[in-house]
Amino acid sequence: MKEKLENIKETALSKINEIKDLNKLEELRVKVLGKKGELTSVLRGMGKLSADERPEMGKLANQVRDEIEAAMGELKDDLEEKLKFQKMSLETLDITIQKELHKLGHRHPLMQTIEELENLFISMGFSVVVGPEVETVANNFDSLNSPKNHPSRDLSDTFYFNEELLLRTHTSPVQIRAMKEIGAPLRIVSSGRTFRPDAVDDTHSPMFHQLEGLVIDENVNMGNLMYTLNIFIKELFGEDIETRYRPHHFPFTEPSAEVDVSCLSCRGKGCETCSNTGWDMELLGCGMVHPNVLENCGIDSEKYSGFAFGMGIDRITMIKYGIPNIRLLFENDNRFLEQF
Ligand code: DAH
Repeated sequence: MKEKLENIKETALSKINEIKDLNKLEELRVKVLGKKGELTSVLRGMGKLSADERPEMGKLANQVRDEIEAAMGELKDDLEEKLKFQKMSLETLDITIQKELHKLGHRHPLMQTIEELENLFISMGFSVVVGPEVETVANNFDSLNSPKNHPSRDLSDTFYFNEELLLRTHTSPVQIRAMKEIGAPLRIVSSGRTFRPDAVDDTHSPMFHQLEGLVIDENVNMGNLMYTLNIFIKELFGEDIETRYRPHHFPFTEPSAEVDVSCLSCRGKGCETCSNTGWDMELLGCGMVHPNVLENCGIDSEKYSGFAFGMGIDRITMIKYGIPNIRLLFENDNRFLEQF
């Protein structure tokens, strides 16, 4: 009997060591200590023992039961505690937790400017069209009346793929595409990337953005051009901003002009930014479409005339938001972009 008791104890304790959940523990309890359990049936056999054996065996049996019960009790407490923590971790709302939330992005300042410019022109009845960044030399230069000896055509001034293809140096070739595809009359703007082998500095980048505009119709004149651009500029920068048209030369327009606007810092009064002139230089280039350009695109230059303009979007963005360095627009540093 002694051996049996020892055996029950050993087996029970080693099983307890392996148990990991409360149901298994209860099963074991019933199996060992329950009414029909192993230990109980041994105790029932006590009656058969002799009177002097009984007390010793009784003592041993109690010891065994106590030990098993103690071990089971301890494990039960342990498992219950664990279960409680598991439940708590599922059920509680921890408002102190630091969770990375998804950040909602927004449009790049350049794209915001493009959208604003396009919307202004759309409100004046223009359509928005797009042209490719990889252009033909013909569209970028020849059809725009830019002679073979023009300095901008120089191999060192333009990124050429081969003799016929290049990275467009301005958005003006979209004029050619629009005139050929849509024909007269038309009223379009087009914005996008342009490329020149400029060294990077605070205001230059080999990749930059332009917005091009073109209006072709009967009886279009320089007054229409100035009226349209003046409205546009006042809408963009404010009613108090004045414009100044300086004669200039572009091969694809005749006459041509560059447009200055009142200094945006002092609104024309004169300050350090504008060297006391009251003017910001060169917001855009413009002019009346050269008859050769119309004819190159199959438009009758006796019947139709037109005006065109082109402006640097990066520069406008920098002026609008007070950005001192063009590199900031292309570095994609979130600390910068998040500010807009
Ligand atoms: N394409 C010119 C440039 O990149 C800008 C320009 C000037 C565009 C006059 C025009 C224009 O449409 O009429 O410097």
